[in-house]
Amino acid sequence: MNILLTGGLGFIGSHTATVLAAEGHEVVIIDNLCNSQRQTLDSLESITGKELPFYEGDVRDAPLLKEILQKHHIECVIHFAGLKSVAESGTDPLKYFDNNVGGSIVLIEAMQATNVKKLIFSSSATVYGEPQYLPYDEDHPLAPMNVYGRTKLQVEEILQDLSKSDLDWSIVCLRYFNPIGAHESGLIGELPQGIPNNLMPYICQVVSGKLPHLNVFGDDYDTKDGTGERDYIHVMDLADGHAAALEFVDKHKGWEAVNLGTGIAYSVYDLVSAFEKSSNQTIPKVVKERRIGDLPIYYAKADKALVMLGWKAKRDLQSMCDSSWKYQEQLLKLAK
Ligand code: NAD
Ligand code: UFG
Repeated sequence: MNILLTGGLGFIGSHTATVLAAEGHEVVIIDNLCNSQRQTLDSLESITGKELPFYEGDVRDAPLLKEILQKHHIECVIHFAGLKSVAESGTDPLKYFDNNVGGSIVLIEAMQATNVKKLIFSSSATVYGEPQYLPYDEDHPLAPMNVYGRTKLQVEEILQDLSKSDLDWSIVCLRYFNPIGAHESGLIGELPQGIPNNLMPYICQVVSGKLPHLNVFGDDYDTKDGTGERDYIHVMDLADGHAAALEFVDKHKGWEAVNLGTGIAYSVYDLVSAFEKSSNQTIPKVVKERRIGDLPIYYAKADKALVMLGWKAKRDLQSMCDSSWKYQEQLLKLAK
């Protein structure tokens, strides 16, 4: 299929591009590089052995989107492009609604105008909010606790309404849990700008000597070791999940939301231990106050993905840490 990846040079988009290209799909990328680098395109081309058409542009640019959709005979769009900092979404909500919701509306209108009606949307487990029960299944009430999560839920709702109004649409919203890890080549991975907000990229910077220690946000939760527990999922498993969703949207119409997680929760200390094993280094840590807005524990019920998409996560926590470490080592070599 001819597939447009919006935000395709970002963390999840770039890894998905490798899987789709390996499966023989024609991958076209649009990214405004607000949270990614052009060099990722070179890495993608060396991994895939293919030249991937790339547009440096914004999903809010309707004429550009229409031009790309038509020129490349796009059949399906995977919409990764979005801003993802929970903290920044609280301090600059309009930026988030404009980019994540406004950007999605412009994209959907461009797709409608060019008769491209297959869409996979990057949603998030954050749409569920405070757990009423665990694991979260797709029927769990939706009550995001931050602006970022509300932008994701709004787009999901817009897409659901759209699919009811026009039965030709085929839409899957993938609710990602906590993606970490990197491509097995070590050529691409997660490269946040500035000081990372999230656990794995923060650990990577501690191990690389850029930050002195890990701040552990709370060790007094009602969890197995007192630290927060999350459903970490290898980004290559997530990428495979997109390939499975692509097959699904090609054959079915309507709207679906599907969790992409492993169904297993690991603590901050589990991740630290696994990363220490991968890197053969000790990670200094300092216990701090709980981070505002953090939940103690959540994880996915991943049954729908297996039944509907035939997809299941295969890689374990050690392989997530090993691949992240391999990517870090590559970055350290390049910096020398
Ligand atoms: P990322 O920031 O690495 O990738 C997003 C890409 O989109 C970046 O390359 C950025 O430059 C681009 N972009 C942003 N706004 C754009 C715009 N208006 N026009 C064109 N390009 C734009 O993030 P990621 O981790 O790869 O996440 C991809 C998607 O998955 C996002 O929508 C994110 O909200 C969602 N998601 C991520 C996580 C996570 O923990 N990483 C979890 C759940 C959901
Ligand atoms: N944590 C630390 N120290 C850090 C960073 C995180 O102890 O420096 C802890 C947190 O308190 C939490 C766990 O590590 O217990 C995971 O935190 P992350 O920031 O890595 O991930 P979150 O679960 O908070 O949120 C992430 C994304 C959201 C997304 C959500 C669900 O940041 O955008 O997963 O997909 F919505």
